[in-house]
Amino acid sequence: MRTKVAIIGAGPAGLLLGQLLYSYGIDNVILERHTGEYVLARIRAGLLEEGTVTLLDEVGAGQRAHHDGLIHQGIELAFGGERHRIDLHGPTGKTVMIYGQTELTLDLMNARRAAGLTTIYEADHVRPTDFETDHPRVSYLKDGVTHEIDCDFIAGCDGFHGVSRASVKPEAIKTFERVYPFGWLGILSDTPPVSPELIYSNHDRGFALCTMRSTKRSRYYVQCPLDDHIDQWPDGRFWDELKRRIDQKAADTLVTGPSIEKSIAPLRSFVAEPMRFGRMFLAGDAAHIVPPTGAKGLNLAASDAHYLAQAFREYYDERSSAGIDAYSAKALSRVWKAVRFSWWMTSMLHKFPDNGPFGARIQLAELDYVVNSKVAAASLAENYVGLPF
Ligand code: APR
Ligand code: PHB
Repeated sequence: MRTKVAIIGAGPAGLLLGQLLYSYGIDNVILERHTGEYVLARIRAGLLEEGTVTLLDEVGAGQRAHHDGLIHQGIELAFGGERHRIDLHGPTGKTVMIYGQTELTLDLMNARRAAGLTTIYEADHVRPTDFETDHPRVSYLKDGVTHEIDCDFIAGCDGFHGVSRASVKPEAIKTFERVYPFGWLGILSDTPPVSPELIYSNHDRGFALCTMRSTKRSRYYVQCPLDDHIDQWPDGRFWDELKRRIDQKAADTLVTGPSIEKSIAPLRSFVAEPMRFGRMFLAGDAAHIVPPTGAKGLNLAASDAHYLAQAFREYYDERSSAGIDAYSAKALSRVWKAVRFSWWMTSMLHKFPDNGPFGARIQLAELDYVVNSKVAAASLAENYVGLPF
C-alpha cells in the first residue's frame, strides 16, 4: 500500500490530523492497535478550548459538540472553606466547552468513515522504519499477515506508550519529566453536577475537582495515594471524602449516586524534544504528557495536529519544506507553556507530602493572590481558555 502520510494511532491527535489532511486533499492511512470500541471506552477529560472546537468545525465534525457541549465562562477555586469565581470570558473574550473526549473521538471516527478514509484497526506490531531516509515505511501485522505501507511521512500519534517515540535512537531524543507523588481517583455518575461551573478545591486532605459531562452526568475527582487501588474506594467512601474536601454549600447540595466508572490515574509532566525525526513527526501524548489540572492534554493534541497539518499542506501545495522544518519548534513552544500552566495549577492545588506547613501557607497565599488580583486572575484565565495557535 502507498499513502502520503501514514498515521500511527487513532486517538484524538491521529483522527484530527487525518481529517485536516483529508480536507487539504492529502491522502492518509491510520493504523490503530486496538478496536474502535476499545478506543471509545477510555474515559478521559472533557474540556475543549475554543481553538479545539474551531478545528472540529474546520473538518466538519463540530455539529454534535455545538449541540450537546456546555459553554463555560468561568471556573471556581475553593480554599479555606470559601469558593471564589475566576471569570474566564471577561479578560479573554473566550469560553471553554465541556464535551467528553470520547464524544469528540466518536465524531472524528464518524467523519472519517463518512469520508471513506482507511483506518486499519487491530494492527499489531506496528513499526515505523527508514524515517531518516526519503522512503519511510510502516509495517504491521493484521490477521497473521505482515503488510507494509510506503509513505512520504509518518505521524506518530500513538500516545505515551506508543511505538513511534520508542523507535527513535536514544541519542536523538531528550526527555524532560516530573512524576507527581499522588494520583487522581475519578468517578462518573448519572447525577446532576453540584454546581454549574467547575470547582477546583485545595484542601488539607488533598485536592478535589467537581466537573461534568452534561447537565445530568457528573465527573468528580479526589487526589489519592499512588498505590491506592479502586477496591479500597467503594462509592460511599468516595462521596464522603469528596464532601470533606469541598466547601459546605457544595457538600450540602451534592447529589450522590452509584458510580458508572471509577479509575485511578497517575499524574505526570513529560516532554520529548524534538518532535521531528527525519520524516517522522510526533504529535499529542506521543510527545508530551501533562497532569490533568487545567485539562490541556487533549487541547495540545489538537494544536499539534493543526501545526502538523499546516506543515504538510505547505509541503504539498507550495512545495516548501519551511513548515515541516519549523513544526517541532513551533509545537514545543506552545507545549511548554501548557506544561508550565498545568504544573503551576497542580502545584497550587494539591497536597504535596514534602510541602509541610510552610508550603501549605504559600499555596494559600498564591490562591488568595490569584482570586484577588485582576492581573493574576486574567493570567490564569488566558492560559485556561488556551493560548493562541
Ligand atoms: N500501534 C498502533 N496504535 C497504537 C500503538 C501502536 N504501537 N500504541 C498506541 N496506539 C494507539 C492507542 O491505542 C491510542 O488509540 O494510539 C492512540 C493514542 O491515543 P491517545 O492516547 O488518546 O493520545 P492522543 O491522540 O495524543 O490524545 C491525547 O488523550 O491521553 C489523553 O490526556 C490526553 O486528552 C489527551 C489525549
Ligand atoms: C474533566 O471534565 O474530566 C476535567 C475537567 C477539567 C480538568 C480535568 C478534568 O482540569
